[in-house]
Amino acid sequence: MTETADLLGRWAGRAAVRLAHVDSTQNAARGEAEAGAPEGTVVWADHQTAGRGRLGRTWTDEPGAALLVSVLLRPGPNVSCLPQISLLAGVAAAEALGAESGLPVRLAWPNDLLVGGRKVAGILAESVTSKNAEPVVILGLGVNVNQTRFPESLAGRATSLALEAGRPFDRERLLRALLVALEGWYGRWAREGFAPVREAWRRAAETLGRRVLVEEGLAGIAVDLAEDGALLVKTDAGLLVRHVAGELV
Ligand code: BTN
Repeated sequence: MTETADLLGRWAGRAAVRLAHVDSTQNAARGEAEAGAPEGTVVWADHQTAGRGRLGRTWTDEPGAALLVSVLLRPGPNVSCLPQISLLAGVAAAEALGAESGLPVRLAWPNDLLVGGRKVAGILAESVTSKNAEPVVILGLGVNVNQTRFPESLAGRATSLALEAGRPFDRERLLRALLVALEGWYGRWAREGFAPVREAWRRAAETLGRRVLVEEGLAGIAVDLAEDGALLVKTDAGLLVRHVAGELV
């Protein structure tokens, strides 16, 4: 384990822990939180042996090729806005990765990052609450950076920045850019609320205007992102439904 001071920023990355390998940076960051680490503490690793994604999925990586990072946030009472934190992280990541790579990085609801319709990064926001301690959010981000191939099971669905741009990327530089963007968007959300995040998400969204399947037998057109972050879908029967959790099928 290496303790690297000052990855950058006023708070995001001021304390950073870099690991050669770990089960999940989410678990390691939770350990840091329980030990009293400050907001903005970053845990990142070259390889995870039990990386996890949303909805109980596994998140696999090629050692040394991906950016695998968890950021500790202490949003206080705003912890109840976990979906909004997750959406603002998507906006920040799309902005940072787009600027660093020159690629058109788009967002699929809730916050998959896509290039050319294939997933290049994913976000997992987990909250940890307990009776006697302040709630914390562990914001996990996995970016496919320098992979040149993917397992058969992900064929056609996953890509990497290197595959799309035709050149490798420096992961630490990407991490710095991500943290700067996160610091900016998290601060803006805390000051101004969800409205600016919502506007930015809508501009970067691949999902809006597309036909989506909300659940078996319920399909329609994704028409907007609601003021609280839910996806609004106009069903084939003409009803407007809110899709708040899970994902599109
Ligand atoms: C998803 O798209 O389902 C979210 C994937 C999140 C993966 C990252 S990698 C760093 C952090 N540690 C984990 O175990 N998961 C997140």
